[in-house]
Amino acid sequence: MLEYVSVELTRLAADTEEYTTVLFGGSGTAAVESILSSVVDDDVLLIINNGAYGQRMCEIAEAYGLNYAAFNSPPDDGIELTALEKLIQGSPRKISHLAVVHNETSTGLLNDIESIGAICRKHHIEMIVDAMSSFAALPIHMNKMNISYMAASSNKNLQGMAGIALVIANKRKLESLLHMKPRNYYLHLYAQYQFFVKNRQMRFTPPVQTVYGLKQAIDELKEEGIQGRYERYAKSWETLVNGLARLGLKHIVPIEHHSKIITSILEPDCRGYDFNEMHDYFSRRGFTIYPGKFADSKTFRIANIGDITCKDIEEFLRVMEHYLEGIGYPFDKENDR
Ligand SMILES: Cc1ncc(COP(=O)(O)O)c(C=O)c1O
Repeated sequence: MLEYVSVELTRLAADTEEYTTVLFGGSGTAAVESILSSVVDDDVLLIINNGAYGQRMCEIAEAYGLNYAAFNSPPDDGIELTALEKLIQGSPRKISHLAVVHNETSTGLLNDIESIGAICRKHHIEMIVDAMSSFAALPIHMNKMNISYMAASSNKNLQGMAGIALVIANKRKLESLLHMKPRNYYLHLYAQYQFFVKNRQMRFTPPVQTVYGLKQAIDELKEEGIQGRYERYAKSWETLVNGLARLGLKHIVPIEHHSKIITSILEPDCRGYDFNEMHDYFSRRGFTIYPGKFADSKTFRIANIGDITCKDIEEFLRVMEHYLEGIGYPFDKENDR
């Protein structure tokens, strides 16, 4: 079953002859941490930081004492690719790897990994992508996009249970890690890969129930198809943003850079508003909403992934309207802005 899961996951983003999926028991951060701590040698790792998950990669690099540099970019706008390339060209030290988050789940900002991959190809840099909240919904072609290593997890768009961290990687690159001095133990990517090649097993106790759940989730995804899944998500998202606009609420990432998977929304400008009270109000009515993770302004987040449709979003918007009425939100004033 582990082999089935590994092969089918690889197929979602790459050719199984050239790429493979390494599985770990752990949450998504384990996959990101495994890659960063296992593949970067003494050269420089460049991390694109335009949100909480880019920042987390910097923290991981810091914890392992890696030579890294951050390319900071606004959390609510596209990356300036010319500035990125200039930084790469002007770097006094060799940049061997670049790490980027595909969909910044803290805002819903979608990074253009195809263009970044082309820059990496030109400058002989290996690209690492955190595709935690894009994999299995947005189309990803690892070879075409020049991605060497990619991190994802069993929950999010795969719609399985949490507990399995995935690293999808180019086999040739994995093989090249053989002589690298290990910095980690449980998360050692080469060791986990080699053990799986030899034994078709994870090195340590697998989260068995979650593996069964993941197999079922993969079979359900194959029925719906990645394209069908993303179309369903996008329809839910369009229902959401149109409804928010009707209520006078604003989301922070422009539509042309939006992943349509999670939306960061400015809190209502109203004295009766309190995030925790709003959270509990929704929770009592069957909806869980997220607090914001956007540094500069007060936001909350709505995700539209999982086994839901635009009908659920319509119901959510009805509850939102009732909540706003209850706190004395000035609808007319907001709509006039
Ligand atoms: C882009 C991204 N990276 C990493 C993570 C971390 O995953 P986990 O909380 O499963 O460790 C998340 C979780 O939301 C994420 O969205």
